[in-house]
Amino acid sequence: MDRQFRCFASAAFGMEGLISTELKRLGASAVTAENGGVLFDCSLIRLFEFNLRMHFSDRLFIILSDTVCRSFEDLYQAVYGIDWSFCFTGKEAINISCKCTRSTLMSQRDCQSVAKKAIIEKTKKTTGLQVFPESGAPLPIHISVRNDHTRILLNTSGDALSRRGYRTWNGEAPLRETLAAALVELSPWHPGIPLHDPCCGTGTLLIEAAFMASHRAPGINRRFSMEDLCFSDPSILNTVREKVRSELIHGYVTGITGSDIDPDALELARRHIRQAGLCQDDILLSCVPLQQLKLEASDGVFLCNPPYGERLSDQKNCRLLYRDLHALKDRHPSWRLCAISSDPAFERSYGKRADRKRRLYNGRLECVFYCFD
Ligand SMILES: C[S@@+](CC[C@H](N)C(=O)[O-])C[C@H]1O[C@@H](n2cnc3c(N)ncnc32)[C@H](O)[C@@H]1O
Repeated sequence: MDRQFRCFASAAFGMEGLISTELKRLGASAVTAENGGVLFDCSLIRLFEFNLRMHFSDRLFIILSDTVCRSFEDLYQAVYGIDWSFCFTGKEAINISCKCTRSTLMSQRDCQSVAKKAIIEKTKKTTGLQVFPESGAPLPIHISVRNDHTRILLNTSGDALSRRGYRTWNGEAPLRETLAAALVELSPWHPGIPLHDPCCGTGTLLIEAAFMASHRAPGINRRFSMEDLCFSDPSILNTVREKVRSELIHGYVTGITGSDIDPDALELARRHIRQAGLCQDDILLSCVPLQQLKLEASDGVFLCNPPYGERLSDQKNCRLLYRDLHALKDRHPSWRLCAISSDPAFERSYGKRADRKRRLYNGRLECVFYCFD
């Protein structure tokens, strides 16, 4: 499992810089950001560790081939040229996804079947096998074709890394965990000072902040597709998982609190806190409209994902809520406030220009993250 690979961490738009910094901090080499992701070199063991530890990336892939394909023959040759024996024994269920953008090859279904044929023909030639039962673990391959630039990728994560495993119930417009972690990272908050989410909903921002404060690896309680492939040695991976788990600092989460107007959302937040392996005392929640919120601590950071008012009928109320966020900040003069919204009138409704702004995507929605110092 020491063999080195060129790898790719996929990223939502605007998160590439955060992912590069995290990869460098974790010790990856040859880290290079590009639109939609970050390239890096590492071994299979380190890749497993990165799957456990990374906060902001969507998925981690091994790059099996990186070339230009302008015809199905080009694609067939690219796939046939890969040494499949390291990850395919002939038993795995070949599971190919494909995305084609502005390219000569635009039929995703045809790309999938050409690639599958090439994998099978190559394996027949190298192993002599004639039967492929596809009854084993999934072999998750992704083909990305963009401007004819074609990458054949092995998905080592499986489900998106945002699926930490604690959120099994979704409230109204929950934030994806990777984006929530990015907002915590981009905010001026750091462990040790108070953090309050006045529209906490199902608690995603608070849980991600608590993970960071207690050095809990976000993926510690889930499985990754690479664990089921033939190159993985379960005892080595268990040792890595236990080492990462041992870094958890119990009882270190202090000053992380949230409130919301909706008691049902708070009930879900409590469930998620429990499912995330945190104690109810780690994150204190209260049912208070933000218009009435008054906190004791003299300084801290408000961090929130308020409603965006995408439907015209909700827009007026949301804009009044943004004005109320400003009043909340005025009642707490030493606190800083950060909020994400897709509403272009956010600053106008809030009544002040933000000191810092950053463009990010919440799913397909283009948003801005505003920080008022
Ligand atoms: C977009 S959701 C937040 C989702 C949250 N980040 C999560 O991960 O579940 C917006 C939240 O703002 C809350 N909200 C709306 N008006 C509010 C008010 N006046 N005071 C407090 N919370 C409010 C809603 O109940 C809802 O939970």
